[in-house]
Amino acid sequence: MPDTLTIIDNRTDLRYELPIHQGTIRTMDLRKIQAFPGDFGLMGYDPAFMNTASCQSAVTFIDGDKGILRYRGYGIEQLAEKCSFLEVAYLLLFGELPTASELQAWVSTITHHTMLHETTKKFLEGFRYDAHPMGMFISTVAALSTVYPDARDVHDPAVRQLQICRLIGKVPTIAAYTYRHSLGYPYVYPDNELTYPANFLNMLWKMVEPKYQANPTLARALDILLILHADHEQNCSTNVMRSVGSSQADPFVSVAAAAAALSGPLHGGANEEVLRMLDEIGSKERVWAYIQQVKAGHGKLMGFGHRVYKNYDPRARVIKWTADQVFQVTGRNPKLEIAIELERIALDDEYFVKRKLYPNVDFYSGIIYQAMGFQPEMFTVLFAIPRTVGWLAQWQEMIQDPEQKIARPRQVFVGKESRQFVPIEQRGSQAARAASPNV
Ligand code: ACO
Repeated sequence: MPDTLTIIDNRTDLRYELPIHQGTIRTMDLRKIQAFPGDFGLMGYDPAFMNTASCQSAVTFIDGDKGILRYRGYGIEQLAEKCSFLEVAYLLLFGELPTASELQAWVSTITHHTMLHETTKKFLEGFRYDAHPMGMFISTVAALSTVYPDARDVHDPAVRQLQICRLIGKVPTIAAYTYRHSLGYPYVYPDNELTYPANFLNMLWKMVEPKYQANPTLARALDILLILHADHEQNCSTNVMRSVGSSQADPFVSVAAAAAALSGPLHGGANEEVLRMLDEIGSKERVWAYIQQVKAGHGKLMGFGHRVYKNYDPRARVIKWTADQVFQVTGRNPKLEIAIELERIALDDEYFVKRKLYPNVDFYSGIIYQAMGFQPEMFTVLFAIPRTVGWLAQWQEMIQDPEQKIARPRQVFVGKESRQFVPIEQRGSQAARAASPNV
């Protein structure tokens, strides 16, 4: 059976044979299909990339129908159970799990990149006391580009590696500082004796005690949450990272752009919205009525549905297990009752079953974060910390891919054809045009 696709163009009766490779055709091959000599050629039209692969990637594998997620071939469940976040970061970036000595060196390198330049600390002072932490995070990551102008040399592997370490080391510090800024608390410098998650908790919550001791169960739960959020192949923010990075912009501004994409409520911002939704529902008894409202077209169930998963999001399963560990320390978050009831009713309801809408990673994560003491405004920042690793792994892959060029989609132009210029005194107003559109 030949790995080809035969296309007959009914406009010309011509027949074309296109190669199929790994279940895809190259859309550029369509261009030779012309209606007449000199025709531009056929294009693919795919708003929102519903069925278009923009790259080849070896980083993350998802089977959305079966609910499988693997980083570099390893199942997410095993990585969450057996690894630390920095171990998984190494795997995502370098392709293999580190040996003990490689891990030690890697952890030491990241630990020695956690400090922020004092000007960056002062930069944070410029934000209003009630600025959203995600806005502060995005802007401060972008501002690092001014501190490290060497980062522009994106083709030098050693320079790239240095920026990768800087970013992974500094994003928890920036995140913690946005939180301290919103409370008006003094910033806490990183503590090199602590693990990555324990140091983050230290920078968030240390007050006057000489040494902050994070609860080990909470630090481990946070580490697991970081692992679960580290990468998710070509999602909205990763696509932005690759797109901005394809112009050879430095990784700081590219990560800031990716974080901006993450902040939207349909993407990483959903975790914050889930908590608002649970607050709005208020009690277990009101879940059914809320679901009817959603089915009638008023809003969405936040934390439900996914472009790729048409089955249970495997991360949501691990998160539920992690929640049990956290609640043993913090006590049960009362919102869990509402969330469980919502999941129960939705998974049994024709509307959600037919559309294959399952809880996604954001559905339960916020409930754990809240139990740990985070305000909903911080949730998406907590997502951005680990996803920085995924963005960087994908960026590095993109830079090294000889097939990649500046990302520049085509369009189907549906606007006006060429028009005669109208002098200003002869132009009709918007209101007049609206009143008689044919004039
Ligand atoms: N609640 C109710 N209905 C939904 C939901 C939801 N959460 N999600 C999708 N639907 C419905 C849509 O209305 C649509 O119905 P229709 O066929 O009758 O028009 C159908 O399911 C298909 O949905 P689309 O919007 O076409 O799916 P798409 O792949 O474009 O969107 C998305 C995926 C954005 C995640 C969507 O499911 C959603 O908005 N969910 C809520 C926000 C959310 O939780 N986002 C986090 C995603 S995970 C992440 O980014 C980390």
